[in-house]
Amino acid sequence: MNTQQTPIIEMKNIEKHFGRVIALAGVSVEIHPGECHCLLGDNGAGKSTFIKTMSGVHKPTQGEIFFEGKPMHFENPRDAIEAGIATVHQHLAMIPLMSVSRNFFMGNEPERRFGPMKLFDHDYANQVTMEEMRKMGINLRGPDQAVGTLSGGERQTVAIARAVHFGAKVLILDEPTSALGVRQTANVLATIDKVRKQGVSVVFITHNVRHALAVGDRFTVLNRGKTLGTAVRGEITPEELQDMMAGGQEMVALEGSLGGTV
Ligand SMILES: Nc1ncnc2c1ncn2[C@@H]1O[C@H](COP(=O)(O)OP(=O)(O)O)[C@@H](O)[C@H]1O
Ligand SMILES: [Mg+2]
Repeated sequence: MNTQQTPIIEMKNIEKHFGRVIALAGVSVEIHPGECHCLLGDNGAGKSTFIKTMSGVHKPTQGEIFFEGKPMHFENPRDAIEAGIATVHQHLAMIPLMSVSRNFFMGNEPERRFGPMKLFDHDYANQVTMEEMRKMGINLRGPDQAVGTLSGGERQTVAIARAVHFGAKVLILDEPTSALGVRQTANVLATIDKVRKQGVSVVFITHNVRHALAVGDRFTVLNRGKTLGTAVRGEITPEELQDMMAGGQEMVALEGSLGGTV
């Protein structure tokens, strides 16, 4: 991570209103090349709304978005994807009975990639899929293995590897670990670490401080549509981060009444 470089994405004073609900009340965040930027906050804090404005799903009510230093106006998610901003959702768009290889290439217009015959080149697709999955530490039985036979963490890894292979510069992950067990979570965190080391910026949404601390370079905490600031790895303790996330004093009082650490 290099914070001296131009941020790949700069979100400036972003406001988002849904009727009378103010989901975001002036949030500014910079995403730097090759960093894992964790976005933390309790349910309803505005995390999903924030990344949806970053990825062209929502237009901000107010505020500016800069991509690689230039002002950007995403009309729709397609615009953001073309710029290199990919989102992997918790509930993945995958077809369980289809092969990993088919899922890997699904939606990535084979005719643009497989020449004038517009054929889906299975051998090429299989080879790429096996190789990309191997790089992520997953040895498939074969490219025909059905996605449904993979674990939840492995499926997240397929989705992440797919986004990176097809050119993502920024990978947005909305709560990728929240439905997973310990071991699967560790796999997904290892995948995040790998893609970050390849120079991809990762925006990792989680409400789990331990998951954030395992891979994050910087941490932004949202609370009721506002940012409580961005902290740098090594300059904040797990307790401080937990406290920021929980709204500070409220959490201390609650912990006291429960007689331990929540
Ligand atoms: N499409 C929408 N219409 C109305 N209110 C919304 C919409 N999306 C989000 N909100 C509201 O905005 C606030 C932030 O929600 P969200 O961004 O989903 O939070 P988080 O992802 O941190 O849990 C919540 O009060 C939520 O109810
Ligand atoms: Mg959310």
